[in-house]
Amino acid sequence: MMNMRNRVVIIGNGAVGSSYAYGLLNQGVADELVIIDLDKDKAEGDVMDLNHGLAFAPSSMQIRTGDYRDCEGADIVVITAGANQKPGETRLDLAMKNTEVFKSIVDQVMSHSFDGIFIVATNPVDVLSYMTWKFSGLSSERVIGSGTILDTARLRYQLGDYFRIDARNVHAYIIGEHGDSELPVWSHANVGGIPVDQYISMHTERYDEKDLEPIFHKVRDAAYHIIERKGATHYGIAMGLVRLTKAVLRNEDALFTVSVLLEGQYDEEDVYVGVPAIINRNGVREIVELNLRQDEKDLFKKSVSVVKDAVERVKH
Ligand code: 2OP
Repeated sequence: MMNMRNRVVIIGNGAVGSSYAYGLLNQGVADELVIIDLDKDKAEGDVMDLNHGLAFAPSSMQIRTGDYRDCEGADIVVITAGANQKPGETRLDLAMKNTEVFKSIVDQVMSHSFDGIFIVATNPVDVLSYMTWKFSGLSSERVIGSGTILDTARLRYQLGDYFRIDARNVHAYIIGEHGDSELPVWSHANVGGIPVDQYISMHTERYDEKDLEPIFHKVRDAAYHIIERKGATHYGIAMGLVRLTKAVLRNEDALFTVSVLLEGQYDEEDVYVGVPAIINRNGVREIVELNLRQDEKDLFKKSVSVVKDAVERVKH
């Protein structure tokens, strides 16, 4: 009989990994959660601590520490391991270091016949998603990077705050590199279905199109502002990862801006980068190709070339 219990394995129990574990428990997303980290004491401590919350959780969950053998039969392996940015560092500065870390992680996961879906969150996430795909030999539908899922959420929050409308009723994407070259897709941004520019022109006494650019800058630079203050970002991305996990395990066909392999879409190929994609039990069901404005196309092309250059550098 098919095993209906689902298992999620986390590799990397730092700020992002442990916030993700806490989010999974709070939202009752997985049946079994295995935490792998070089720091076994921290992992064991977190497992004990999380288990003490089970009596308050929405559903039961088996939570334990483990090792790479647990990847066999796992539904999802989430990788959050690796170095993170120090104040002043860009995401791309981490490429070389974290690619080495990933080579060893992905090899060990695959040596235990892993046959599920990888979700990659470590930066630079587009580069590392591509490398995970290459190192694993899995088909690209099974390797998803968190991409610009968080940047899109940040933009929705900022626009919601500006228009005083619930972020969940605001739809606007950030695409491209999860990093300094990313871009907003204003041509498809809407508030409750009303295009943003139209919404602004309906309320010129309150809103001005000139405000959009600084809103985007807040989004693009958000991680720097947070890292300056507290050294890391983790709650937002962890919630994004939980949401993505739920979409996979519950076969939701939900849409997110995630890092996926482009094979001709947006006139690009052989690159992982953030674009809207439909996610279900099999991973990436479909990449949604937006009809971008010319200026957006140009910015997207530039952003893709930043990612491609970074991949070339780590390959050589
Ligand atoms: C973030 O955007 C640092 O990539 C991380 O929060």
